[in-house]
Amino acid sequence: MSAPSKSKDFSVYFQPPSMRDAKTRGKSEINVQYTDGLPEEFKGLGLGKKYLLRTFGCQMNEHDSEMIAGLLEAMGYETTDDKNEADLILLNTCAVRENAEDKVFGELGHLKGLKREKPDLILGVCGCMSQEEAVVKRILAKHNFVDLIFGTHNIHRLPFLLKESMFNKELVVEVWSKEGDIIENLPKKRAGMRAWVNIMYGCDKFCTYCIVPYTRGKERSRLPQDVLNEVRELAQQGYQEVTLLGQNVNAYGKDFEEMKYGFGDLLNEIRLIGVPRIRFTTSHPRDFDDHLIEVLAKRGNLVEHIHLPVQSGSNEILKRMTRKYNVAQYLELVEKIRAAIPDAVLTTDFILGFPGETEEQFQETLELARKVQYDMAFTFIYSPREGTPAFEMKDDVPYEVKQRRLADLNEVLKESGIAHNRRMIGQVHEVLVESESKNNSSMLSGRTRTNKLVHFEGDASLIGKLVHVNIEEAMTFYLRGTMVEAPVGSAI
Ligand code: SAH
Ligand code: SF4
Ligand code: F3S
Repeated sequence: MSAPSKSKDFSVYFQPPSMRDAKTRGKSEINVQYTDGLPEEFKGLGLGKKYLLRTFGCQMNEHDSEMIAGLLEAMGYETTDDKNEADLILLNTCAVRENAEDKVFGELGHLKGLKREKPDLILGVCGCMSQEEAVVKRILAKHNFVDLIFGTHNIHRLPFLLKESMFNKELVVEVWSKEGDIIENLPKKRAGMRAWVNIMYGCDKFCTYCIVPYTRGKERSRLPQDVLNEVRELAQQGYQEVTLLGQNVNAYGKDFEEMKYGFGDLLNEIRLIGVPRIRFTTSHPRDFDDHLIEVLAKRGNLVEHIHLPVQSGSNEILKRMTRKYNVAQYLELVEKIRAAIPDAVLTTDFILGFPGETEEQFQETLELARKVQYDMAFTFIYSPREGTPAFEMKDDVPYEVKQRRLADLNEVLKESGIAHNRRMIGQVHEVLVESESKNNSSMLSGRTRTNKLVHFEGDASLIGKLVHVNIEEAMTFYLRGTMVEAPVGSAI
């Protein structure tokens, strides 16, 4: 690691990431630490100061930002959207694809001038990119105006690190490559009526293309009582929707040594808590067991939407991705889910142009998409990630071919998406009102239980409430309708 220009003494606060450490999965026990909020010594440190926090990643990353904001506000900081009035700017980054990283480096380039004008501004980088060895090296070499780098396992350390940065004006880098304990009771700043709740951290699947197991550490589950208490509190606070988060939510509990308690068991308890909607993401096809399907079929507040990433429709590619299932097993799972929950909305993720993907293998992906008839899918062009096994494979599908495959697949997905949406015309759906429509303030936008976007006329006072909407028009990515009285037998 080349020496950064800023710091003279690296001994305490210069701990850059190591991909080698991130790869290993030790047997060391994960303990749970119950914090008591913010220690006294940090209270008031941020008074009169403003922070700007930008989030680039997935829902897990967004939720980390809620924790970061919670810590900062407990220190006395206030939030701002204006970078010119910020005393602290934090970029909470994502490493999953190259374009996510490019955005962050672009942003750092823009912030260079501001930092020159305002030397007291503290500029920090956190999130998944800070867990990558090569990224931290690049920041230290080319963006050495950055003051603070901390990792995904170091969020609870932010007050300490910030204090160090404020008073010693030294570069502070603290990135633990191995996960530490699970930290409970950190302050969280939530917004709106939808809340995220982590049920587990990390990933042990090591799909060959994916950086997440290296940036998020080994799989570890929060204790059921801690999750249940948090969801109960959210219910008391009037939250209308809770999304349970984990890289593989259905691997929940596999790491409990002294009890047999899985994701199905957890959902079976959560469904009895009075939050109108419970979602979860992401479920891995491999760990989706019959008990989980049985519990989901009880419905109630468990919504009938399952995001089930498939990645490819070719057995050979799935094998090289180490997804640990084949096409027949995936289709069998889809059938089981649909038999138990006939109106289940299925969505997925696909990667196009994985190393060595032939035209025939891509056609198999199209075939799978036609068979499953997804409601919606996220489609990504393969992006090589340094340190992953696929990075060593030859990225041999030309970019134009990847783009063409992406477009062809999106065409197939569009057909099934719109067909599903058209079937909703004439049906009344429960909608959680989120906001006024972007283009027309007399229109509201909200989501069905299956997470479909609906636009309808209504008053802004309904934001955060559940209403019923008769669906009248269907597009590929949204629906339009008219608000109606709750149907007979409805809960509201
Ligand atoms: N844990 C989740 C996925 C998290 S990443 C799961 O397994 O379902 C979200 C999606 O990003 C993945 O499902 C995959 O489709 C995509 N992705 C991950 N790594 C990628 C890469 N190197 N290139 C392109 N897409 C990738
Ligand atoms: Fe990545 Fe696979 Fe883990 Fe999902 S299951 S986070 S794709 S390694
Ligand atoms: Fe999420 Fe991106 Fe990290 S998808 S887990 S923020 S690499």
